[in-house]
Amino acid sequence: MSSEESVDANETGERVLVIIPTFNERENLPRILDRVRAAVPDVHVLVVDDGSPDGTGLIADERAAADDRIAVLHRTEKNGLGPAYFAGFGWGLDHGFDVLVEMDADGSHAPEQLPRLLTALDHADLVIGSRYVPGGSVVNWPKRRELLSKGGNLYSRLALGVSVKDITAGYRAYRAKVIRAIPLNEVASHGYCFQVDLAWRTILGGFRVVEVPITFTEREIGVSKMSGNIVREALIKVTLWGAAHRWQQIKGLFSRSGERVSR
Ligand code: GDD
Ligand code: MN
Repeated sequence: MSSEESVDANETGERVLVIIPTFNERENLPRILDRVRAAVPDVHVLVVDDGSPDGTGLIADERAAADDRIAVLHRTEKNGLGPAYFAGFGWGLDHGFDVLVEMDADGSHAPEQLPRLLTALDHADLVIGSRYVPGGSVVNWPKRRELLSKGGNLYSRLALGVSVKDITAGYRAYRAKVIRAIPLNEVASHGYCFQVDLAWRTILGGFRVVEVPITFTEREIGVSKMSGNIVREALIKVTLWGAAHRWQQIKGLFSRSGERVSR
């Protein structure tokens, strides 16, 4: 794709880029691309591959050669999901897209439910595909993973004082202006906690966040890249963000009460 003009608009007139990060997803990638094409034919797709040893990047290249709405970003190092998405967001902004969608390659995020997220953008700046609002669900997750997700969400809600039910979720649609407003080079989150980080920055930025129910189906092929390090990073960072926020609130209270006293 060489210029903004070559980007097609969807039926609402907005140009939508679906960013699909991949690491060793050779069997999943063709399936998810086919599903995206069938379910939402107008969207563009960017595959962000971190040099997958299993050849996912080559498959992505083949698909891109045959479809001018598919592009590939090759990164040489596996550097975490956050930086992969940040690179994809940068590409999307450079190419003039209005909406930037996050979608896993492993089929957990149904492309058939994407219209639901896009429609909700009419009244939101960030739409989160949520497992934990009425109508949302998880299919085939091991109990351990479900507990981790629910615990992570509860902890984040309490630490940050936000009401988002699924703040760790990875199926999202951002208006480009939200991503433009976030200094991505300052976001230090590497693992999956960048999801919480960006949602938190979106909320603090005063943007409208809406959750719509989705069905998250655990992958049937390949393995999750979730690790102990990813969980530890999330726990430490969310705690620090929450503490910093509370500290600001306390400072604000003191300075306000100081104002009252001096009047
Ligand atoms: N390029 C790149 N680099 N892609 C990556 C990396 C990386 O370092 N790590 C993971 N991915 C890709 C995978 O190939 C897949 O397409 C997608 O990111 C999600 O990875 P999974 O490993 O399948 O994630 P998960 O199913 O455990 O976690 C999902 O749910 C979490 C919330 O419970 C994701 O959607 C997370 O973003 C989400 O926080
Ligand atoms: Mn997965």
